[in-house]
Amino acid sequence: MPASALSSRSAGAPGAPRVIVALDLPDFATATAMVDRLDGQADFFKVGLELFTADGPRIVDWLSLRGADVFIDLKGHDIPNTVAGLARSATAQGARLITVHASGGLAMLRAAVDGAGSQVDGGILAVTVLTSMDADALGEAWGRPSPDVAAEVRRLAALAHEAGVHGVVASGEELPTLVPTYGASLRVLVPGVRLSGGATHDQRRVVTPSAAAAAGASYVVVGRAVTAAADPAAAMAAVHADVARGVAEGVTGTV
Ligand code: C5P
Repeated sequence: MPASALSSRSAGAPGAPRVIVALDLPDFATATAMVDRLDGQADFFKVGLELFTADGPRIVDWLSLRGADVFIDLKGHDIPNTVAGLARSATAQGARLITVHASGGLAMLRAAVDGAGSQVDGGILAVTVLTSMDADALGEAWGRPSPDVAAEVRRLAALAHEAGVHGVVASGEELPTLVPTYGASLRVLVPGVRLSGGATHDQRRVVTPSAAAAAGASYVVVGRAVTAAADPAAAMAAVHADVARGVAEGVTGTV
């Protein structure tokens, strides 16, 4: 297959979020086979903890050589010096998007931005509250009974904005407050995306691609809704169609 066939997709409709496929797969062979099956349909490929640990630099190089845009999603949460190093290394490997946890605090977030420097094309994204967590899970982890998840997301987004990161990771449920507050100064990436009626797996705060698009997401991440589908290319086409519907009609939808 020629390299150009696997380049990132040309831009979708104006205002449409870029669609990122999460390669949450065990090894190089499985991941590259999935990329081949999706043949130019993704805007970005995301390499996360599982695949990066198994075969990180090799898969990132392979994707970059094929002209694909790469998101290294290792969700850094460590001392500032270490997170600066993560951002520097990921940027040097060609990552256009890199994640860190907003709860790592201002100094850590600023170190990530400094570590990436001006090289990074897309930016540092700060994870607010994982989309797999609801109020009960958050309360259990943070020792606060019945926390208001949306308020925690807003608080962490404000911290991330103050640190000068390029965007935040939040669920689609929080888009209606984040997008009007920050506009273009903080892009929002939305995971936990499912086609209507799709299985939610371990995610708790899920939305459809059309709802995320209608509410102004800059990026949506789709993982198992595509990679675990019987026909991943057909599932990906359905995601793009739903995104286009959301942009055109401003629809909101539930899974
Ligand atoms: O398969 P699924 O679509 O649930 O995968 C979601 C992807 O997005 C996973 O790779 C996960 O690590 C990532 N992610 C998330 N929630 C966040 C940040 C990243 O689910 N808050």
